[in-house]
Amino acid sequence: MRVLFVTSEFAGLAKAGGLGDVSAALPRALIRQGVDVRVVMPAYPDVLARTSGVEVVGELPGRAEIPSCSIGRVRLEDGLVLYLLIAPSLYDRPGNPYCGPGGEEWPDQDLRFGRLSLAAADIARGIGGLNWAPDLLHVNDWPGSLAPAYLHWDGAPVPSLLTAHNVAHQGVFPASRRAALGIPESAFAMEGVEFYGNIAFLKAGLFYASHACAVSQTYAREITTPAFGGGLHGLLAGLAGQGRLSGIVNGIDESWDPARDPYLPYHFQAEDLHGKRMLAELVRTSLCLEHSEGPLFAIVSRLVHQKGLDLVAEAAPEIVRRGGQIAILGMGQPSVEHLLHRVSRAHRDQIGLLVGFNEPMAHRIVAGSDFLLMPSRFEPCGLTQLQAQHCGTLPIAHATGGLVDTIEDGGTGLLFEEANVEGLLGACHRAFEVFSHPAELLRMRRRAMARTFSWSRSAEQYRELYSLLLDGSAPSSQ
Ligand code: ADP
Ligand code: GLC
Repeated sequence: MRVLFVTSEFAGLAKAGGLGDVSAALPRALIRQGVDVRVVMPAYPDVLARTSGVEVVGELPGRAEIPSCSIGRVRLEDGLVLYLLIAPSLYDRPGNPYCGPGGEEWPDQDLRFGRLSLAAADIARGIGGLNWAPDLLHVNDWPGSLAPAYLHWDGAPVPSLLTAHNVAHQGVFPASRRAALGIPESAFAMEGVEFYGNIAFLKAGLFYASHACAVSQTYAREITTPAFGGGLHGLLAGLAGQGRLSGIVNGIDESWDPARDPYLPYHFQAEDLHGKRMLAELVRTSLCLEHSEGPLFAIVSRLVHQKGLDLVAEAAPEIVRRGGQIAILGMGQPSVEHLLHRVSRAHRDQIGLLVGFNEPMAHRIVAGSDFLLMPSRFEPCGLTQLQAQHCGTLPIAHATGGLVDTIEDGGTGLLFEEANVEGLLGACHRAFEVFSHPAELLRMRRRAMARTFSWSRSAEQYRELYSLLLDGSAPSSQ
Protein backbone atom coordinates (compact mmCIF):
# COMPACT_ATOMS: atom_id res chain seq x y z
CA MET A 1 0.00 0.00 0.00
CA ARG A 2 1.52 3.34 -1.08
CA VAL A 3 0.46 6.55 0.65
CA LEU A 4 1.56 10.14 0.06
CA PHE A 5 1.38 12.13 3.31
CA VAL A 6 0.84 15.81 2.55
CA THR A 7 1.91 18.31 5.19
CA SER A 8 3.07 21.86 5.81
CA GLU A 9 5.19 21.00 8.91
CA PHE A 10 7.62 18.29 9.98
CA ALA A 11 9.17 18.25 13.48
CA GLY A 12 12.93 18.58 13.41
CA LEU A 13 12.82 20.39 10.07
CA ALA A 14 10.03 22.98 10.29
CA LYS A 15 7.47 22.94 13.08
CA ALA A 16 4.94 25.44 14.41
CA GLY A 17 2.80 23.11 16.54
CA GLY A 18 1.43 19.62 16.93
CA LEU A 19 0.99 19.01 13.19
CA GLY A 20 4.80 18.95 12.94
CA ASP A 21 5.01 16.22 15.56
CA VAL A 22 2.29 14.16 13.91
CA SER A 23 3.90 14.49 10.46
CA ALA A 24 7.26 13.29 11.73
CA ALA A 25 5.89 10.42 13.79
CA LEU A 26 2.83 8.96 12.06
CA PRO A 27 4.45 8.13 8.68
CA ARG A 28 7.29 6.38 10.53
CA ALA A 29 4.82 4.38 12.63
CA LEU A 30 2.97 3.41 9.43
CA ILE A 31 6.19 2.30 7.76
CA ARG A 32 6.80 -0.01 10.73
CA GLN A 33 3.40 -1.53 9.88
CA GLY A 34 4.40 -2.21 6.32
CA VAL A 35 2.82 0.81 4.57
CA ASP A 36 5.01 2.56 1.96
CA VAL A 37 4.43 6.15 3.16
CA ARG A 38 6.28 9.10 1.71
CA VAL A 39 5.91 12.72 2.73
CA VAL A 40 5.51 15.76 0.50
CA MET A 41 6.08 19.26 1.89
CA PRO A 42 7.48 22.67 0.91
CA ALA A 43 11.26 23.09 0.84
CA TYR A 44 11.44 25.94 3.36
CA PRO A 45 15.00 27.18 3.99
CA ASP A 46 15.14 25.38 7.37
CA VAL A 47 14.20 22.12 5.72
CA LEU A 48 16.98 22.44 3.16
CA ALA A 49 19.46 23.52 5.85
CA ARG A 50 18.60 20.57 8.08
CA THR A 51 18.73 17.83 5.45
CA SER A 52 21.58 16.75 3.26
CA GLY A 53 21.78 14.89 0.00
CA VAL A 54 18.64 16.41 -1.53
CA GLU A 55 18.44 15.19 -5.12
CA VAL A 56 16.23 16.82 -7.73
CA VAL A 57 14.12 13.98 -9.13
CA GLY A 58 11.24 15.66 -10.89
CA GLU A 59 9.52 18.76 -12.18
CA LEU A 60 5.90 19.79 -11.78
CA PRO A 61 4.07 22.17 -14.10
CA GLY A 62 2.40 25.32 -12.80
CA ARG A 63 -1.27 26.10 -13.20
CA ALA A 64 -2.84 29.56 -13.46
CA GLU A 65 -0.75 31.70 -11.05
CA ILE A 66 0.70 28.71 -9.22
CA PRO A 67 4.34 28.52 -10.40
CA SER A 68 6.05 25.34 -11.56
CA CYS A 69 8.44 23.69 -9.13
CA SER A 70 11.11 21.05 -8.82
CA ILE A 71 10.80 18.02 -6.61
CA GLY A 72 13.75 17.33 -4.36
CA ARG A 73 14.00 13.90 -2.82
CA VAL A 74 15.76 13.13 0.43
CA ARG A 75 15.94 9.92 2.41
CA LEU A 76 16.18 10.54 6.16
CA GLU A 77 18.51 8.43 8.30
CA ASP A 78 15.76 5.98 9.21
CA GLY A 79 14.75 5.53 5.58
CA LEU A 80 11.71 7.83 5.42
CA VAL A 81 11.53 9.52 2.01
CA LEU A 82 10.54 13.18 1.78
CA TYR A 83 9.59 14.94 -1.45
CA LEU A 84 10.47 18.60 -1.07
CA LEU A 85 8.81 21.18 -3.30
CA ILE A 86 11.46 23.59 -4.48
CA ALA A 87 9.75 26.82 -5.49
CA PRO A 88 11.98 29.65 -4.25
CA SER A 89 9.50 32.42 -5.15
CA LEU A 90 7.04 30.87 -2.67
CA TYR A 91 9.10 29.21 0.02
CA ASP A 92 12.57 30.73 0.20
CA ARG A 93 11.76 33.11 3.07
CA PRO A 94 12.65 33.40 6.73
CA GLY A 95 10.16 32.64 9.50
CA ASN A 96 8.03 29.59 10.36
CA PRO A 97 5.88 27.66 7.85
CA TYR A 98 3.12 30.26 7.95
CA CYS A 99 4.53 33.60 9.04
CA GLY A 100 7.46 35.93 8.60
CA PRO A 101 9.88 36.59 11.46
CA GLY A 102 7.63 39.39 12.76
CA GLY A 103 4.64 37.03 13.01
CA GLU A 104 2.86 38.43 9.92
CA GLU A 105 1.09 35.94 7.62
CA TRP A 106 2.39 35.90 4.06
CA PRO A 107 0.05 37.65 1.61
CA ASP A 108 0.37 34.86 -0.98
CA GLN A 109 -0.59 32.05 1.39
CA ASP A 110 -3.13 30.78 -1.16
CA LEU A 111 -0.45 30.22 -3.81
CA ARG A 112 2.05 28.75 -1.32
CA PHE A 113 -0.38 26.07 -0.21
CA GLY A 114 -2.19 25.86 -3.52
CA ARG A 115 1.26 24.78 -4.78
CA LEU A 116 1.48 22.10 -2.08
CA SER A 117 -2.04 20.82 -2.80
CA LEU A 118 -1.56 20.75 -6.56
CA ALA A 119 1.79 18.99 -6.24
CA ALA A 120 0.22 16.26 -4.14
CA ALA A 121 -2.60 15.78 -6.63
CA ASP A 122 -0.21 15.74 -9.61
CA ILE A 123 2.18 13.27 -7.99
CA ALA A 124 -0.85 11.05 -7.29
CA ARG A 125 -1.70 11.25 -11.01
CA GLY A 126 1.79 10.14 -11.94
CA ILE A 127 2.91 13.59 -13.16
CA GLY A 128 6.33 14.94 -12.30
CA GLY A 129 8.68 12.19 -13.39
CA LEU A 130 8.92 10.26 -10.12
CA ASN A 131 8.99 6.53 -10.51
CA TRP A 132 6.60 6.21 -7.61
CA ALA A 133 2.92 7.11 -7.26
CA PRO A 134 0.65 6.63 -4.28
CA ASP A 135 -2.54 4.56 -4.13
CA LEU A 136 -3.97 7.08 -1.70
CA LEU A 137 -3.42 10.69 -0.60
CA HIS A 138 -3.44 11.52 3.09
CA VAL A 139 -3.68 15.30 3.41
CA ASN A 140 -3.48 17.30 6.61
CA ASP A 141 -5.24 20.53 7.53
CA TRP A 142 -6.14 23.33 5.15
CA PRO A 143 -2.72 23.70 3.46
CA GLY A 144 -3.13 20.36 1.68
CA SER A 145 -6.88 20.51 1.37
CA LEU A 146 -7.19 21.54 -2.26
CA ALA A 147 -5.48 18.29 -3.31
CA PRO A 148 -8.67 16.18 -3.29
CA ALA A 149 -10.36 19.00 -5.20
CA TYR A 150 -7.67 19.12 -7.93
CA LEU A 151 -7.94 15.32 -8.23
CA HIS A 152 -11.67 15.64 -8.70
CA TRP A 153 -11.44 18.43 -11.29
CA ASP A 154 -8.76 16.49 -13.20
CA GLY A 155 -10.90 13.36 -13.17
CA ALA A 156 -8.32 11.28 -11.31
CA PRO A 157 -9.91 8.53 -9.23
CA VAL A 158 -7.28 8.47 -6.46
CA PRO A 159 -8.89 8.12 -3.00
CA SER A 160 -8.02 10.70 -0.37
CA LEU A 161 -8.22 11.07 3.38
CA LEU A 162 -8.22 14.51 5.03
CA THR A 163 -7.16 14.75 8.66
CA ALA A 164 -8.45 17.93 10.29
CA HIS A 165 -6.13 18.86 13.11
CA ASN A 166 -7.96 22.09 13.79
CA VAL A 167 -11.07 23.27 11.95
CA ALA A 168 -10.54 26.81 13.27
CA HIS A 169 -7.89 27.25 10.58
CA GLN A 170 -9.61 27.04 7.22
CA GLY A 171 -7.48 28.76 4.61
CA VAL A 172 -10.07 31.37 3.57
CA PHE A 173 -9.33 33.63 0.58
CA PRO A 174 -11.38 36.10 -1.48
CA ALA A 175 -13.46 34.74 -4.32
CA SER A 176 -11.38 36.91 -6.67
CA ARG A 177 -8.47 34.44 -6.19
CA ARG A 178 -10.42 31.61 -7.88
CA ALA A 179 -8.81 31.89 -11.29
CA ALA A 180 -5.31 32.39 -9.82
CA LEU A 181 -5.63 29.01 -8.11
CA GLY A 182 -6.91 27.26 -11.23
CA ILE A 183 -10.29 26.54 -9.64
CA PRO A 184 -12.99 25.97 -12.29
CA GLU A 185 -15.79 28.52 -12.23
CA SER A 186 -18.40 25.81 -11.67
CA ALA A 187 -16.63 24.75 -8.45
CA PHE A 188 -17.27 28.12 -6.85
CA ALA A 189 -20.50 26.85 -5.35
CA MET A 190 -21.84 25.52 -2.09
CA GLU A 191 -21.21 22.06 -3.52
CA GLY A 192 -17.55 22.95 -3.98
CA VAL A 193 -15.03 25.44 -2.64
CA GLU A 194 -17.37 28.32 -1.79
CA PHE A 195 -17.76 29.29 1.86
CA TYR A 196 -19.80 32.40 2.75
CA GLY A 197 -18.79 34.13 -0.47
CA ASN A 198 -15.09 33.21 -0.18
CA ILE A 199 -12.90 30.28 -1.12
CA ALA A 200 -12.04 27.99 1.79
CA PHE A 201 -9.39 25.30 1.33
CA LEU A 202 -10.62 23.26 4.28
CA LYS A 203 -14.22 23.32 3.12
CA ALA A 204 -13.07 22.15 -0.30
CA GLY A 205 -11.05 19.33 1.24
CA LEU A 206 -13.94 18.16 3.37
CA PHE A 207 -16.23 18.31 0.37
CA TYR A 208 -14.00 16.50 -2.13
CA ALA A 209 -11.98 14.07 0.04
CA SER A 210 -13.16 10.49 0.13
CA HIS A 211 -13.13 10.47 3.91
CA ALA A 212 -12.30 12.87 6.76
CA CYS A 213 -10.81 12.30 10.13
CA ALA A 214 -10.37 14.42 13.27
CA VAL A 215 -7.58 13.94 15.79
CA SER A 216 -9.75 12.60 18.61
CA GLN A 217 -13.20 11.03 18.85
CA THR A 218 -14.58 13.76 21.09
CA TYR A 219 -13.40 16.49 18.70
CA ALA A 220 -14.89 14.53 15.78
CA ARG A 221 -18.25 14.79 17.55
CA GLU A 222 -17.75 18.39 18.70
CA ILE A 223 -17.09 19.74 15.22
CA THR A 224 -20.52 18.60 14.06
CA THR A 225 -21.99 21.28 16.37
CA PRO A 226 -22.17 25.05 15.80
CA ALA A 227 -20.02 25.78 18.87
CA PHE A 228 -16.96 23.94 17.52
CA GLY A 229 -17.49 23.51 13.79
CA GLY A 230 -16.31 26.97 12.72
CA GLY A 231 -19.26 27.27 10.33
CA LEU A 232 -18.55 23.84 8.83
CA HIS A 233 -20.71 21.91 11.30
CA GLY A 234 -23.44 21.28 8.73
CA LEU A 235 -21.02 19.73 6.24
CA LEU A 236 -19.27 17.81 9.02
CA ALA A 237 -22.54 16.52 10.49
CA GLY A 238 -23.47 15.37 6.98
CA LEU A 239 -20.18 13.49 6.65
CA ALA A 240 -20.64 11.95 10.10
CA GLY A 241 -24.14 10.84 9.11
CA GLN A 242 -22.70 9.06 6.07
CA GLY A 243 -19.99 7.39 8.18
CA ARG A 244 -17.36 9.53 6.42
CA LEU A 245 -15.93 11.23 9.51
CA SER A 246 -13.68 9.28 11.89
CA GLY A 247 -11.76 10.22 15.03
CA ILE A 248 -8.24 8.87 15.61
CA VAL A 249 -6.27 10.18 18.55
CA ASN A 250 -2.58 11.13 18.18
CA GLY A 251 0.33 9.56 20.01
CA ILE A 252 3.76 10.77 21.13
CA ASP A 253 7.15 9.45 20.19
CA GLU A 254 9.88 7.99 22.32
CA SER A 255 11.79 11.26 22.55
CA TRP A 256 9.53 12.05 25.52
CA ASP A 257 10.71 9.10 27.63
CA PRO A 258 12.08 10.80 30.79
CA ALA A 259 14.48 7.91 31.35
CA ARG A 260 16.29 8.64 28.08
CA ASP A 261 15.23 12.01 26.71
CA PRO A 262 18.40 13.58 25.25
CA TYR A 263 17.15 17.10 26.05
CA LEU A 264 17.11 16.33 29.78
CA PRO A 265 20.30 16.73 31.82
CA TYR A 266 18.70 14.57 34.56
CA HIS A 267 16.70 11.44 33.89
CA PHE A 268 14.07 9.70 35.95
CA GLN A 269 11.41 7.00 36.00
CA ALA A 270 8.29 6.19 38.00
CA GLU A 271 10.24 4.31 40.70
CA ASP A 272 12.79 7.07 41.25
CA LEU A 273 11.74 10.67 40.76
CA HIS A 274 14.94 12.28 42.04
CA GLY A 275 15.85 13.49 38.54
CA LYS A 276 12.42 15.15 38.22
CA ARG A 277 13.11 17.22 41.34
CA MET A 278 16.52 18.21 39.96
CA LEU A 279 14.85 19.33 36.74
CA ALA A 280 12.33 21.41 38.68
CA GLU A 281 15.23 23.25 40.29
CA LEU A 282 16.87 23.73 36.93
CA VAL A 283 13.64 25.17 35.51
CA ARG A 284 13.28 27.52 38.49
CA THR A 285 16.83 28.75 38.03
CA SER A 286 16.49 29.13 34.24
CA LEU A 287 13.37 31.27 34.68
CA CYS A 288 14.76 33.21 37.67
CA LEU A 289 12.16 31.82 40.09
CA GLU A 290 13.00 31.53 43.76
CA HIS A 291 13.54 28.15 45.38
CA SER A 292 10.25 26.70 46.63
CA GLU A 293 8.79 23.53 48.10
CA GLY A 294 5.41 24.33 46.53
CA PRO A 295 4.03 22.91 43.28
CA LEU A 296 5.42 24.00 39.93
CA PHE A 297 2.83 24.49 37.17
CA ALA A 298 3.96 24.37 33.54
CA ILE A 299 2.67 25.95 30.35
CA VAL A 300 4.27 25.05 27.01
CA SER A 301 2.03 26.37 24.31
CA ARG A 302 1.33 28.48 21.31
CA LEU A 303 0.12 31.73 22.86
CA VAL A 304 -3.22 31.99 21.07
CA HIS A 305 -6.87 32.47 22.06
CA GLN A 306 -7.57 28.74 21.62
CA LYS A 307 -5.33 27.85 24.55
CA GLY A 308 -7.30 29.87 27.16
CA LEU A 309 -4.20 31.38 28.73
CA ASP A 310 -6.07 34.55 29.64
CA LEU A 311 -7.74 32.35 32.27
CA VAL A 312 -4.31 31.48 33.65
CA ALA A 313 -3.45 35.19 33.83
CA GLU A 314 -6.63 35.70 35.86
CA ALA A 315 -6.06 32.70 38.10
CA ALA A 316 -2.33 33.34 38.61
CA PRO A 317 -2.50 35.59 41.72
CA GLU A 318 -4.50 32.91 43.55
CA ILE A 319 -2.13 30.14 42.43
CA VAL A 320 0.80 32.18 43.73
CA ARG A 321 -1.05 33.03 46.96
CA ARG A 322 -1.40 29.30 47.64
CA GLY A 323 2.34 28.76 47.19
CA GLY A 324 2.42 27.70 43.55
CA GLN A 325 4.84 28.81 40.84
CA ILE A 326 4.28 28.90 37.08
CA ALA A 327 6.85 28.30 34.35
CA ILE A 328 5.65 29.47 30.94
CA LEU A 329 7.23 28.83 27.53
CA GLY A 330 5.48 29.96 24.38
CA MET A 331 5.12 32.32 21.50
CA GLY A 332 2.25 33.62 19.43
CA GLN A 333 -0.21 36.49 19.51
CA PRO A 334 1.25 39.71 20.95
CA SER A 335 -1.92 40.31 23.01
CA VAL A 336 -1.58 36.97 24.84
CA GLU A 337 2.17 37.45 25.23
CA HIS A 338 1.57 40.87 26.71
CA LEU A 339 -0.99 39.55 29.23
CA LEU A 340 1.41 36.88 30.44
CA HIS A 341 4.28 39.36 30.60
CA ARG A 342 2.20 41.57 32.85
CA VAL A 343 1.33 38.82 35.27
CA SER A 344 4.89 37.49 35.39
CA ARG A 345 6.24 40.99 36.09
CA ALA A 346 3.77 41.32 38.95
CA HIS A 347 5.07 38.05 40.49
CA ARG A 348 8.69 38.00 39.35
CA ASP A 349 9.93 35.32 41.74
CA GLN A 350 6.98 32.98 41.21
CA ILE A 351 5.97 33.27 37.55
CA GLY A 352 8.54 33.01 34.79
CA LEU A 353 7.85 33.61 31.11
CA LEU A 354 10.14 32.58 28.30
CA VAL A 355 8.99 33.80 24.90
CA GLY A 356 10.23 31.77 21.96
CA PHE A 357 10.20 28.32 20.38
CA ASN A 358 12.69 26.27 22.34
CA GLU A 359 12.53 22.49 22.16
CA PRO A 360 15.07 21.65 24.90
CA MET A 361 13.32 24.04 27.31
CA ALA A 362 9.92 22.59 26.37
CA HIS A 363 11.14 19.14 27.40
CA ARG A 364 12.71 20.40 30.63
CA ILE A 365 9.67 22.41 31.72
CA VAL A 366 7.19 19.66 30.91
CA ALA A 367 9.31 16.95 32.58
CA GLY A 368 10.36 19.00 35.61
CA SER A 369 6.97 20.39 36.65
CA ASP A 370 4.32 18.92 38.93
CA PHE A 371 1.30 20.02 36.92
CA LEU A 372 0.61 21.22 33.36
CA LEU A 373 -1.98 23.95 32.83
CA MET A 374 -4.06 23.44 29.69
CA PRO A 375 -7.29 25.42 29.94
CA SER A 376 -7.83 25.29 26.15
CA ARG A 377 -11.20 26.59 25.00
CA PHE A 378 -11.13 23.77 22.46
CA GLU A 379 -8.41 21.23 21.80
CA PRO A 380 -8.66 18.88 18.81
CA CYS A 381 -6.21 16.44 20.36
CA GLY A 382 -3.38 18.15 22.23
CA LEU A 383 0.05 16.62 22.57
CA THR A 384 1.45 18.49 25.53
CA GLN A 385 -0.87 16.70 27.97
CA LEU A 386 0.36 13.36 26.58
CA GLN A 387 4.00 14.44 26.91
CA ALA A 388 3.28 15.64 30.47
CA GLN A 389 1.60 12.43 31.62
CA HIS A 390 4.49 10.41 30.23
CA CYS A 391 6.76 12.45 32.53
CA GLY A 392 4.52 12.17 35.60
CA THR A 393 3.39 15.80 35.27
CA LEU A 394 -0.35 15.88 35.90
CA PRO A 395 -2.39 17.91 33.38
CA ILE A 396 -5.04 20.32 34.65
CA ALA A 397 -7.27 20.75 31.64
CA HIS A 398 -10.61 21.90 30.32
CA ALA A 399 -12.80 18.90 29.52
CA THR A 400 -12.87 19.33 25.76
CA GLY A 401 -11.78 17.45 22.63
CA GLY A 402 -8.74 15.23 22.92
CA LEU A 403 -8.18 16.34 26.52
CA VAL A 404 -11.27 14.35 27.54
CA ASP A 405 -10.13 11.32 25.57
CA THR A 406 -6.59 11.24 26.98
CA ILE A 407 -6.79 12.42 30.60
CA GLU A 408 -8.40 10.36 33.35
CA ASP A 409 -9.95 12.85 35.77
CA GLY A 410 -8.64 12.09 39.27
CA GLY A 411 -6.52 9.27 37.87
CA THR A 412 -3.86 10.84 35.66
CA GLY A 413 -4.87 14.50 35.75
CA LEU A 414 -7.64 16.93 36.67
CA LEU A 415 -10.40 18.06 34.32
CA PHE A 416 -12.81 20.95 34.70
CA GLU A 417 -16.08 21.40 32.83
CA GLU A 418 -16.49 25.13 32.24
CA ALA A 419 -13.77 27.13 30.47
CA ASN A 420 -13.80 30.00 32.94
CA VAL A 421 -11.59 31.14 35.78
CA GLU A 422 -13.78 29.50 38.44
CA GLY A 423 -13.49 26.17 36.64
CA LEU A 424 -9.73 26.49 36.32
CA LEU A 425 -9.26 27.57 39.93
CA GLY A 426 -11.49 24.72 41.15
CA ALA A 427 -9.16 22.26 39.42
CA CYS A 428 -6.08 24.09 40.76
CA HIS A 429 -7.43 23.80 44.30
CA ARG A 430 -7.81 20.05 43.74
CA ALA A 431 -4.22 20.06 42.50
CA PHE A 432 -2.98 21.74 45.71
CA GLU A 433 -4.88 19.08 47.69
CA VAL A 434 -3.22 16.28 45.73
CA PHE A 435 0.17 17.95 46.12
CA SER A 436 -0.23 18.09 49.90
CA HIS A 437 -0.83 14.32 50.02
CA PRO A 438 2.42 12.78 48.76
CA ALA A 439 1.02 9.24 48.55
CA GLU A 440 -1.87 10.42 46.38
CA LEU A 441 0.46 12.51 44.22
CA LEU A 442 2.73 9.52 43.70
CA ARG A 443 -0.22 7.25 42.88
CA MET A 444 -1.42 9.66 40.19
CA ARG A 445 2.06 10.21 38.79
CA ARG A 446 2.68 6.49 38.48
CA ARG A 447 -0.68 5.94 36.86
CA ALA A 448 0.02 8.74 34.37
CA MET A 449 3.49 7.42 33.57
CA ALA A 450 2.15 3.90 33.08
CA ARG A 451 -0.20 5.02 30.30
CA THR A 452 0.98 4.37 26.80
CA PHE A 453 0.35 6.93 24.12
CA SER A 454 2.37 5.12 21.51
CA TRP A 455 1.88 5.89 17.86
CA SER A 456 1.49 2.24 16.92
CA ARG A 457 -2.18 2.07 17.97
CA SER A 458 -3.14 5.19 16.04
CA ALA A 459 -1.09 4.06 13.04
CA GLU A 460 -2.96 0.77 13.05
CA GLN A 461 -6.26 2.63 12.91
CA TYR A 462 -5.03 4.79 10.03
CA ARG A 463 -3.79 1.68 8.20
CA GLU A 464 -7.21 0.04 8.61
CA LEU A 465 -8.92 3.17 7.33
CA TYR A 466 -6.57 3.31 4.30
CA SER A 467 -7.40 -0.35 3.53
CA LEU A 468 -11.12 0.28 3.74
CA LEU A 469 -10.80 3.30 1.45
CA LEU A 470 -8.70 1.36 -1.03
CA ASP A 471 -10.92 -1.69 -1.23
CA GLY A 472 -13.95 0.56 -1.46
CA SER A 473 -15.65 -0.71 1.69
CA ALA A 474 -15.35 2.52 3.74
CA PRO A 475 -18.14 5.03 3.26
CA SER A 476 -16.61 7.43 0.79
CA SER A 477 -17.50 10.03 -1.79
CA GLN A 478 -15.99 8.04 -4.67
P1 ADP B 1 -0.94 22.84 18.93
O1 ADP B 1 -0.64 21.96 17.78
O2 ADP B 1 -2.34 23.34 18.97
O3 ADP B 1 0.05 23.93 19.11
P2 ADP B 1 -0.30 20.46 20.55
O4 ADP B 1 -0.41 20.24 22.02
O5 ADP B 1 -0.91 19.47 19.68
O6 ADP B 1 -0.84 21.94 20.28
O7 ADP B 1 1.23 20.49 20.11
C1 ADP B 1 2.12 21.47 20.49
C2 ADP B 1 3.53 20.92 20.26
O8 ADP B 1 4.44 22.00 20.17
C3 ADP B 1 4.02 20.06 21.40
O9 ADP B 1 4.96 19.13 20.91
C4 ADP B 1 4.69 21.07 22.32
O10 ADP B 1 5.65 20.48 23.16
C5 ADP B 1 5.33 21.99 21.29
N1 ADP B 1 5.48 23.40 21.68
C6 ADP B 1 4.52 24.32 21.86
N2 ADP B 1 5.05 25.52 22.14
C7 ADP B 1 6.38 25.37 22.13
C8 ADP B 1 7.49 26.26 22.34
N3 ADP B 1 7.31 27.53 22.62
N4 ADP B 1 8.73 25.75 22.24
C9 ADP B 1 8.92 24.44 21.97
N5 ADP B 1 7.93 23.56 21.75
C10 ADP B 1 6.67 24.02 21.83
C1 GLC C 1 -3.62 21.06 16.10
C2 GLC C 1 -4.45 21.07 17.37
C3 GLC C 1 -3.91 20.15 18.45
C4 GLC C 1 -3.46 18.83 17.88
C5 GLC C 1 -2.46 19.06 16.75
C6 GLC C 1 -1.95 17.76 16.14
O1 GLC C 1 -2.61 22.00 16.12
O2 GLC C 1 -4.60 22.38 17.89
O3 GLC C 1 -4.91 19.92 19.43
O4 GLC C 1 -2.85 18.03 18.88
O5 GLC C 1 -3.07 19.80 15.74
O6 GLC C 1 -2.98 16.95 15.67
